[in-house]
Amino acid sequence: MNKPIRVAVTGAAGQIGYSLLFPIAAGEMLGPDQPVILQLLELPAAMDALAGVAMELEDCAFPLLHGIEVSDDPMVAFKGADVLMLVGARPRTAGQDRADLIKANGPIFTGTGEAIDAVAADNAKIVVVGNPCNTNALIASSRAKRIPLANYTAMTRLDQSRAAGQIANKAGATPGDVKNVFVWGNHSDSMVPDVSLATIGGVGKGRAVTDVVGADWLAGDFDKTVRTRGKAIITARGKSSAASAAHAAISHIHDWFLGTGDNDFVSMAVPSDGSYGIPKGIIYSFPVRITAPWKYEIVQGLKVSDATKARMMASAEELLSEREAVQDLL
Ligand code: NAD
Ligand code: LMR
Repeated sequence: MNKPIRVAVTGAAGQIGYSLLFPIAAGEMLGPDQPVILQLLELPAAMDALAGVAMELEDCAFPLLHGIEVSDDPMVAFKGADVLMLVGARPRTAGQDRADLIKANGPIFTGTGEAIDAVAADNAKIVVVGNPCNTNALIASSRAKRIPLANYTAMTRLDQSRAAGQIANKAGATPGDVKNVFVWGNHSDSMVPDVSLATIGGVGKGRAVTDVVGADWLAGDFDKTVRTRGKAIITARGKSSAASAAHAAISHIHDWFLGTGDNDFVSMAVPSDGSYGIPKGIIYSFPVRITAPWKYEIVQGLKVSDATKARMMASAEELLSEREAVQDLL
């Protein structure tokens, strides 16, 4: 049996937390041979609810779940954590943009970043889910002295999955047939879903998505639906996406550790290294290739149309503005 991987989850008693913890404990995130220890963080007011979640986890008797620790102190919850899934943050309400959360949620990530750098495992891997996730990840990463900057990521996997789901529906295919869709930029309405390399029916043998579904649909309904899906869910459900967000967070960590299967790459928001002219100093969604367990590299050399490039830069500009708005937290 492998040594257990310690997975810290913040906001563990929230909506996403409730959908996230059970599949992790069942082995869906790190594989069927990989034990886990869950280290769960909540606010003091939610510790009773978290105790209930911990009871339910115990009651599942998951063979891979080798421990559950709960705390309201990040210095305790993050101790020795190999993977940190930072979900704990306020969701937006109908009528708000994700960026409107920055004043409420940004400060959470200063203390979070400090605690990670102080007590997490040396090479800890971090995914930020709490919105606005790119800029919250930037705030946490600004505290990194010991943990490598590249290990701070934010989640745009849900946007990628939304894009694949839309294409599958339109093409009359199943989502698993849709390969190599990805998203550039911010997890906001400015994101840029990119299907220029996407295929239906398998990498290398499939048909180009652009040949199967119409260009008008791709540029119109598809693009808008993907970019604004979060708001549509809040309007319909009265609450923001939870199960799909949890699934995307699991997929983000799964692929970072275990690879992307028969997709060549996957969307992750990572610290920009200047690729494609995206300024350094922001956390931006790129297509990344997983080259070894816990190692990603930004896919290089993709041909980007002028129109896509202009939108990519606009999303980068938005992230620069968000960074400006939290300058006091960096
Ligand atoms: P929720 O309100 O149901 O749960 C959030 C939980 O976080 C609560 O239990 C709360 O007590 C806890 N919390 C708040 N501050 C905390 C702190 N400082 N430390 C620890 N825990 C804290 O919200 P939710 O629906 O689970 O959503 C959580 C966040 O995820 C929101 O910001 C939401 O917008 C975001 N989200 C992001 C994506 C994405 O694609 N990146 C998708 C869906 C939701
Ligand atoms: C989503 O994309 O569903 C989440 O980021 C929640 C939101 O506020 O849109």
